[in-house]
Amino acid sequence: MHTDPAQYVRSAIRSVPDWPKPGVTFRDITPVLQDPRSFRVLVDLFVYRYMQQKLDLVAGVDARGFILGSVLAYELNLGFVPVRKKGKLPFRTVAEEYSLEYGNSSVEMHADSVRPGQRVLLIDDLIATGGTMMAASKLLQRLGANVIEAAAIIDLPDLGGAQAIRDSGLPVYTVCQFT
Ligand code: PRP
Ligand code: ADE
Repeated sequence: MHTDPAQYVRSAIRSVPDWPKPGVTFRDITPVLQDPRSFRVLVDLFVYRYMQQKLDLVAGVDARGFILGSVLAYELNLGFVPVRKKGKLPFRTVAEEYSLEYGNSSVEMHADSVRPGQRVLLIDDLIATGGTMMAASKLLQRLGANVIEAAAIIDLPDLGGAQAIRDSGLPVYTVCQFT
C-alpha cells in the first residue's frame, strides 16, 4: 500500500474517458468503495479530520454524497440529512436553483432538517464547477445552519469550483485532485 492514504485513495479512482459525453473524463469512485481497504482508508481520512470538530450533522449531496456522508455521520455519531435533487422529498421543502452548462437545476431539503445554529459538514464525492456545493451551502444557511466546511473526495481544479467556494467564505477540503 502507498504510505500516503490520500494517494492510496486517488490511485483507486477510475478515470473513464469520453463519459457521459465526448471530451469529459469521468472520475469514478465505485472502485474505491468496492475494495474494503480503500473504502476504509477513505472513511478514516474524513473521520480523523472531523472527529474533534464538534459537528451536529452531516449533509450529503444526492446521490454520491449519500454514500460517504452517511457512513461518516454514523462513525462520528452525528445525524445525516440529504440534500436531494428536485421533487424527491415528501414533506415541506426549501429549494435553491443553480446553473448548469445548459439550463438550471435545483437542490432541495426538508424545511425542518436543520435547526438554527447547528454545525453542519457538507459532503459530496466531487467538486467540478462548485455549483452544486454552493447551492447546497446556501440552502443550509437559509435554514440557519452554520456550515463548517465543504468536503469531497475529488477536486477538479481546472474548473475552479473549490476556489469559488473558498472565495465565497466557506472552507473546502478534498482528498485529491485530478487535472
Ligand atoms: C456530480 C457530482 C457532484 C456534482 C459536481 O453529480 O456527484 O454532485 O456533479 O458538479 P459541480 O461542482 O459542477 O456542481 P451529478 O449532478 O452528476 O449527479 P449524480 O450524483 O446523480 O450522478
Ligand atoms: N461531475 C461533474 N464532472 C464530473 C467528472 N468529471 N467526473 C465525475 N463526476 C463529475
